[in-house]
Amino acid sequence: MGDKKDYVIYQGEDICGIRRAADAAARVRDQLPLMIRPGMSTKEIDNVAAALIHSTGGISAFLGYRGYPGQICISLNDEVVHGIGRIDKPVRPGDLISIDIGVNLGGYIGDTATSFVLGGTDDPDTLRLLDYTRKALDEGINAAVAGRYIKNISSAVEKIAKSAKLGIVREYCGHGCGKTLHDPPEIPNYVSFNKGPELRPGMVLAIEPMLNLGTSKVITESDGWTVRTSDGKLSAHFEHMVLITESKPEILTWLKT
Ligand code: MF3
Ligand code: CO
Ligand code: CO
Repeated sequence: MGDKKDYVIYQGEDICGIRRAADAAARVRDQLPLMIRPGMSTKEIDNVAAALIHSTGGISAFLGYRGYPGQICISLNDEVVHGIGRIDKPVRPGDLISIDIGVNLGGYIGDTATSFVLGGTDDPDTLRLLDYTRKALDEGINAAVAGRYIKNISSAVEKIAKSAKLGIVREYCGHGCGKTLHDPPEIPNYVSFNKGPELRPGMVLAIEPMLNLGTSKVITESDGWTVRTSDGKLSAHFEHMVLITESKPEILTWLKT
């Protein structure tokens, strides 16, 4: 391996700061869906998210990141990730909505995402997509134990996705997260030739499976950001940040109240 640092270890006050930022992001993630009403535009939802983010004392970690123009990412139906709030895009009952929230609180980053159907659904395929994408994240988290490797997380996610016959998005990955939104290493949602660094206490990882009902292939829209499935089928995205410890991983974006 080269001498470039391929992971980051956090300690002491940095961990406290990351915990607070992650908690703020989780709070926004859990409050925002309660405030979404049919007919709201994704831009209005982005505005509400901005107010929630600011009420935590933080600012958006996404706004301006590589020129990203939104406060959060809000991706509908066949949109996978990086959807930008738009005034001409209303949400309707039955829409599968993915929200990805990044909060910068005091120089530390919280990053978390969830997916849900507005008003709920009983469509079996949609439920399978949501249940197994959530389960893939859970199993990825369970594999995030010191002494194992990034590859073990990837493999746990891939196993669940394959068991449910879901397409795994390959172009976007999980990542380290702490003082920057995207720390090394990358965490693919499939097994690659690279086993990645060994997991060590103090590593903070954002694990984020993006799974599709159909093809794994995605395309990026002409806005330069919005990623959608190339067959137009639904996509789901769940993301938690975890701290690697001496024992079980600590889920930092789990709301404790
Ligand atoms: N969705 C990405 C993640 O969770 C971050 C979004 S980058 C942005 O890692 F620029 F689109 F905001
Ligand atoms: Co995210
Ligand atoms: Co992330």
